[in-house]
Amino acid sequence: MNNQAPVPEFAAIIVAAGKGLRVGGEKPKQFREWRGKPVLRHSVKALLNAGCDRIVVVAPKGMHDEASHAAGSNDALMIVDGGKTRQQSVMAGLEALVSLPPEYVLIHDAARPDLPQEVIERLLRALETHPGAIPTLPVVDSLAVCGEGNVMDGKADRDTLRRVQTPQAFRFADVVAAHRAWRGQPNAGDDAQVLSASGGSVALVDGDERLKKITFAEDFSEPMAAPQYRIGQGYDVHRLQAGEELWLCGIKLEHDKGLSGHSDADVALHAITDAVLGAIGNGDIGTHFPPSDPQWSGARSDQFLAHAVKLAGESGYAIGNIDLTIICEAPKIGPHRPQMRTRVAEITGTDETVVSIKATTTERLGFTGREEGIAAQAIVGLTKSA
Ligand code: CTP
Ligand code: MG
Repeated sequence: MNNQAPVPEFAAIIVAAGKGLRVGGEKPKQFREWRGKPVLRHSVKALLNAGCDRIVVVAPKGMHDEASHAAGSNDALMIVDGGKTRQQSVMAGLEALVSLPPEYVLIHDAARPDLPQEVIERLLRALETHPGAIPTLPVVDSLAVCGEGNVMDGKADRDTLRRVQTPQAFRFADVVAAHRAWRGQPNAGDDAQVLSASGGSVALVDGDERLKKITFAEDFSEPMAAPQYRIGQGYDVHRLQAGEELWLCGIKLEHDKGLSGHSDADVALHAITDAVLGAIGNGDIGTHFPPSDPQWSGARSDQFLAHAVKLAGESGYAIGNIDLTIICEAPKIGPHRPQMRTRVAEITGTDETVVSIKATTTERLGFTGREEGIAAQAIVGLTKSA
């Protein structure tokens, strides 16, 4: 709630007494985990955060322990038995509040765990002028009336129709009276219908797609949102040998020895290629260009890196930055650095300002120190493409 407007006193009823038959599984959907917490607890927390001071959780008969565990412990909570239908469950919740009636009550489906604060605010504000208020969404598709044998039998005007969500908000005295008056009539779809039938006006406020009801098993498995950034690292070594060409970062250097390998043995480009593939979790350079395949014999390594960048693009990512370290005693890398940067930027389709090329010796220690080989390691950051 915002700071200016005082929070009106309100209680809430969360109906959680259904069996969740369409979702299936061992326990009712409202007690299962969703986004790290039981489904029911999400709504409990949202209502408490909005300033609700009493919450009645309506649970299936004999499942108070499960309901209490799923709701989490809080002094504001009370658990009561539900009924055979949603309407009976709502009635049980209302009766539990009658002895100490609140001014307003929000009636909410436990099966709608993502309850935005703004919706609660809009509902409470509407109760200042109406005995009832419900969150609704526009219908975006055109509508057909289904006739016998699945044949279209006329149309409905979508502009006059709305999709209805919960929580539904009411002045407590009005909704209790309306439910009591409804008794004996067929089951109502929701509480707004009950209030409306008794003559109470129901304000329609903007709902929210996040309030979608978990109804089917697939509603539990959400696709993981692709992260904004990904990072990969790569490492490679090639042997230095007389009579070989020395390729580093896609340029040929004059040196008394060169690197040997199946391809042009450009150890620096190989490390960057592996880092790109690592960042998108798509194997390594050997997976895509097997050394056993003769077509890569003597191949230029710039095509390996360009291919890895293309795969990253297909996964929805672009190069953010490249940080390469070449480990060798000789040749000196410094004089070639500007040219190397330009070439790596060209191959990867980036600006050279995001390409960093560093070099170090190992103080004459180890195979690089003895000039038996050159090692390279790279870290690559990827950012989600727009
Ligand atoms: N509900 C309830 N008491 C009932 C039936 C339903 O409290 N006798 C609650 C559900 O727990 C849910 C909400 O009403 O939070 C909306 O109902 P629905 O999505 O239909 O849930 P279920 O009835 O549990 O699911 P299904 O219809 O698939 O069995
Ligand atoms: Mg149901």
